[in-house]
Amino acid sequence: MLSTKVTEGSTTVSVPVPPEGVPFPPSEAPVFYNPHMELNRDISVAATSACAKRILLKKDMELKDITYLDAMSASGIRGLRIANEVGITSILNDWSDDAHELILENIELAGVSDIAEATCKNANVLMHERRFNIVDLDPFGTPAPYLDAATRSVVHFLEVTATDTAPLCGAHFNSGMRKYAAVPLNNEFHSEMGVRILLGKIARELAKHDKGMTPLLSHATRHYVRTYLQVKKGAKQADKALKELGFLSHCEHCGHREVSHGMAISISAHCSSCGKDVYIAGPLWLGQLHETQYCDEVLLEIEDRPLGTKEQAKKLVLACRDELDIPFFYDQHVICKMIGVSAPAMDMFIAALRDTGANVSRTHFTGISFKTDANIATIKDVLRGL
Ligand SMILES: C[S@@+](CC[C@H](N)C(=O)[O-])C[C@H]1O[C@@H](n2cnc3c(N)ncnc32)[C@H](O)[C@@H]1O
Ligand SMILES: [Zn+2]
Repeated sequence: MLSTKVTEGSTTVSVPVPPEGVPFPPSEAPVFYNPHMELNRDISVAATSACAKRILLKKDMELKDITYLDAMSASGIRGLRIANEVGITSILNDWSDDAHELILENIELAGVSDIAEATCKNANVLMHERRFNIVDLDPFGTPAPYLDAATRSVVHFLEVTATDTAPLCGAHFNSGMRKYAAVPLNNEFHSEMGVRILLGKIARELAKHDKGMTPLLSHATRHYVRTYLQVKKGAKQADKALKELGFLSHCEHCGHREVSHGMAISISAHCSSCGKDVYIAGPLWLGQLHETQYCDEVLLEIEDRPLGTKEQAKKLVLACRDELDIPFFYDQHVICKMIGVSAPAMDMFIAALRDTGANVSRTHFTGISFKTDANIATIKDVLRGL
């Protein structure tokens, strides 16, 4: 396999060169490597280090005793960076023989043979056989087929990437229903819909194993959703997490939305504001997406490290930390169109909405989105008055 060396953070590994003329992504390459995921991996290193430090605060163990499973490793770059840059024990798994061979080579190249182990198994088999303090899923597309084994295997922290944004966000409705057993809405806030569908599914999978969860950091782009969760042992914790599940009803006519907690509940088919039919999505995770304290811990980790995407990573985690943690964001342009006004500058609008006494923030999802506890009537009044 023709290969080249790449350095991310302070780790150098060998990755395959895609055959000439093959467009990005390098799907024809014998082992997968996506340079566009460096930001995702940079944040992973910082976030996993913050998780490891939390484990050490509670347990009398050494850094190298903490186990991190990179369940779908490909070249191994993610888990090798964790071993090299965080100092915890990394298990690098991939069922492909080509990937496994490259991982063995890369363990030597990265100089982490003392704290890295390579396995070549079906990730589900491995996760049913062994427990890990931290489990990281980074599959092609949906993580759904791996969530049962991952939620069984994980002890402290679960990290999941999903690149099937079309099913998660409602663009491929039936596929989303099959993978996540939830009804999505493909509207202006579909990116947050994807995060909440995924988290809802993970909460239900954890609950089967009598585990609950607290989301610490979750971010979404057009191409993927990524989440970091603290796993909490016990049936009570599982019950508590399930209480954060529920449904959204959304009126496309007037923009009003309402969330309802619970599973077997009745939801009106009509908008409580204008009486028109509403769309209903769920079950969704309606609880927090981020923990402020954890985001601060991750920001410190980012600051301390030589990361290729340092500025972008800081900006993204800061935006997550500072967004109001309530479902769902509003899209300023959609509301302006609804009432026939042109969109004002975002900062001016946010200041004016705050003047009504409401809590308001920008979000990490898009530049024209905001979160607020103001109702849609107040938002429209403010927009009309600018
Ligand atoms: C998206 S790539 C992983 C990328 C890698 N984590 C990174 O950051 O560069 C997905 C990998 O999962 C592997 N894979 C897919 N299904 C698997 C399974 N059931 N068990 C183990 N590995 C699997 C594929 O061979 C592929 O290398
Ligand atoms: Zn309405």
